[in-house]
Amino acid sequence: MRIRSSFFSIFLLSSSSSPSSSFFSSRFSSLSAMSPGANGDFKSRVTVVGSGNWGSVAAKLIASNALKLPSFHDEVRMWVFEEVLPNGEKLTDVINKTNENVKYLPGIKLGRNVVADPDLENAVKEANMLVFVTPHQFMGGICKKLKGKVTGEVEAISLVKGMEVKKEGPCMISSLISKELGINSCVLMGANIANEIAVEKFSEATVGYRESREIADTWVQLFSTPYFMVTPVHDVEGVELCGTLKNVVAIAAGFVDGLEMGNNTKAAIMRIGLREMRALSKLLFPSVKDSTFFESCGVADVITTCLGGRNRRVAEAFAQSGGKRSFDELEAEMLQGQKLQGVSTAREVYEVLNHCGWLEMFPLFSTVHQICTGRLKPEAIVHYRDHKA
Ligand SMILES: NC(=O)c1ccc[n+]([C@@H]2O[C@H](COP(=O)([O-])OP(=O)(O)OC[C@H]3O[C@@H](n4cnc5c(N)ncnc54)[C@H](O)[C@@H]3O)[C@@H](O)[C@H]2O)c1
Repeated sequence: MRIRSSFFSIFLLSSSSSPSSSFFSSRFSSLSAMSPGANGDFKSRVTVVGSGNWGSVAAKLIASNALKLPSFHDEVRMWVFEEVLPNGEKLTDVINKTNENVKYLPGIKLGRNVVADPDLENAVKEANMLVFVTPHQFMGGICKKLKGKVTGEVEAISLVKGMEVKKEGPCMISSLISKELGINSCVLMGANIANEIAVEKFSEATVGYRESREIADTWVQLFSTPYFMVTPVHDVEGVELCGTLKNVVAIAAGFVDGLEMGNNTKAAIMRIGLREMRALSKLLFPSVKDSTFFESCGVADVITTCLGGRNRRVAEAFAQSGGKRSFDELEAEMLQGQKLQGVSTAREVYEVLNHCGWLEMFPLFSTVHQICTGRLKPEAIVHYRDHKA
């Protein structure tokens, strides 16, 4: 059974519990679409929507499992935002020829069963399991293009870290997917620097689900490998907010590194950041659980992203330049087409805090945004109590 977007609201600031949870429990029972049918002939088809650094690694993980699990079709489609490479070849053609995403994940074979497709509609056409993994700023446009095109019993999972801010309040990406496409969406977040997982170094991740544990288990099965341990958690908003807000903390950690403030300071910033993550998540969704912050999506992701992620690295360069070089310039120079999420998330969080009158309660979050926009110097990251907006 499909849901209509008007049936439920995306997150509203006044909500006092997980939105529409009972609605989801009654409406979404499409597990049958994700398991072999009675005669054993039904196989799930997976499409990965996105093909950046993490998108490519996600496709690799899923492709290796699709080959092993009898309830999945071998072929995994991957939608590619088409680009022409410096040698004039199309990225999609090169991926299909070499089995490598030479731009976003060079040197790693994705699996022969990954098929790159530049046509979004065609890529999702036959899939009943959609994995969304693009920078969050593109998700609004992608959902608009797919509206009305995703039919049948379809389940989604979002690996996207970020949110949209609307007049009514923030809209998490899983809610955007549900609202626009009329399908249930889980989330997968965690301490997951893509390049490390690409070379099969052990790490963990968290699947956040709304109601159906069985659907969460299917996603866990699809992503899990001996080097990628996935745990389901019944707290979709908590998991997604962890993944989103930690990028703001990473920017703060980058400032600390750029100013060579040392490990104690960075640990303090991580602790304060984690505290603000938890406080804001619980204000937005009172149903968010404390225990979620001890999962891979919580404290572990804060640690890895403050030690090694791209947000930290670019923020470090920003602070080293004394705030004189813009984030746009640094992103273009340092990330070769990859996208920075923390700066836009800091702005979005600031808008929410401002709108709700909560700025003073979240000095780290609000200070990060003000440093990013040049209103405060990078040094303010440890003086933020003196610079309340
Ligand atoms: N890279 C990581 O280590 C990592 C780890 C965990 C989560 N994530 C999250 O995964 C999501 C995807 O990140 P990524 O690392 O796969 O991407 P990326 O930053 O490596 O690559 C950018 C992607 O955006 C695409 N793109 C550019 N312009 C576009 C447009 N107009 N419309 C649609 N797509 C466009 C590019 O083709 C490319 O695939 C993000 O939310 C990120 O926070 C990333």
